[in-house]
Amino acid sequence: MASPESSAAGGVAVIGSGLIGRSWAMLFAAGGIPVRLYDVDPRQVTGALDNIRKEMTLLAQSGSLKGALSVEEQLSLIGGCSDIREAVEGAVHIQECVPEDLELKQQLFAQLDGIMDDDVVLSSSSSCLLPSKLFAGLAHRKQCLVAHPVNPPYYVPLVELVPHPETAPATVDRTHALMRKIGQSPVRIMKEIDGFALNRLQYAIISEAWRLVEEGVVSPGDLDLVMSEGLGMRYAFIGPLETMHLNAEGMLSYCDRYSEGMRRVLKTFGPIPEFSGAAAEKVHQAMCVKVPDDPAHLAARREWRDGCLMRLAKLKSQVQPQ
Ligand code: NAI
Repeated sequence: MASPESSAAGGVAVIGSGLIGRSWAMLFAAGGIPVRLYDVDPRQVTGALDNIRKEMTLLAQSGSLKGALSVEEQLSLIGGCSDIREAVEGAVHIQECVPEDLELKQQLFAQLDGIMDDDVVLSSSSSCLLPSKLFAGLAHRKQCLVAHPVNPPYYVPLVELVPHPETAPATVDRTHALMRKIGQSPVRIMKEIDGFALNRLQYAIISEAWRLVEEGVVSPGDLDLVMSEGLGMRYAFIGPLETMHLNAEGMLSYCDRYSEGMRRVLKTFGPIPEFSGAAAEKVHQAMCVKVPDDPAHLAARREWRDGCLMRLAKLKSQVQPQ
């Protein structure tokens, strides 16, 4: 199935051509890197290639196609593949994108361990499986790490690089350089931890949001506005630590002024919510008033969100830090 012009020599093998595999393929091609796209189900690869062509064409029409190459040039870099051995042959990087199932991923990695070279990086897109579990016992485990993207990866550039204790530093360095080359924003998680960094922050926010709604402090709609019209406005440009630094005369001044108040409020935080029962029903109903939960309304809202993210990405690329 691989097209002759799409040799992955010096390129990337993407294993699994669902939502995330397709996005990775587009990002690598945008960076001028040859991609072999493999899936256990060949129909998925055919569907992915069609979908990528359509997506790239729409992106080019709206002036949002990434990279310096044209749609046709980028498409010529992506080849579908129905043989895993062929997919990884000559690749410098393998990006795994199969479903979030530890056993499935472990079986795949055992298979790859037997056919991969000694200098290729094996990187998992896993959202929350620990790399020490994913790669345990592999002969090539020093070459393995998690590179966790954020959905939709084409518009949200963060990639969390998560090594396990035996990952070679060069594996992280090489993946960091590759991510920078394709225009993503990699961060190094120094040691593995459940939820990595992004989901730990996200869950902390979800948890307090839920408690505030459950305790009747604020309505679900207004809670979301606190983020989208408040905190989120600056968080797209500066993080919570820099926010502290700027909201006083530097970080130490902020700690001096506000640590007592922060600690007082933090002590009032409640237990981990159950995310079920009457509270879940209440939040669900409120969300459905805004976005009914049928596939068509959800898809339309996601499309709107992605359009907003695309425009935000453009704005961020124009706003250079002073
Ligand atoms: P998906 O279900 O859309 O795609 C998975 C693909 O893997 C399917 O095409 C399936 O046919 C294929 N597959 C299954 N077993 C395979 C095997 N043994 N060899 C090759 N291909 C195989 O899943 P999605 O959403 O793309 O997720 C992939 C990974 O990315 C997961 O680990 C997920 O946690 C992670 N991720 C997902 C995000 C999301 O928002 N969907 C965000 C960040 C990471």
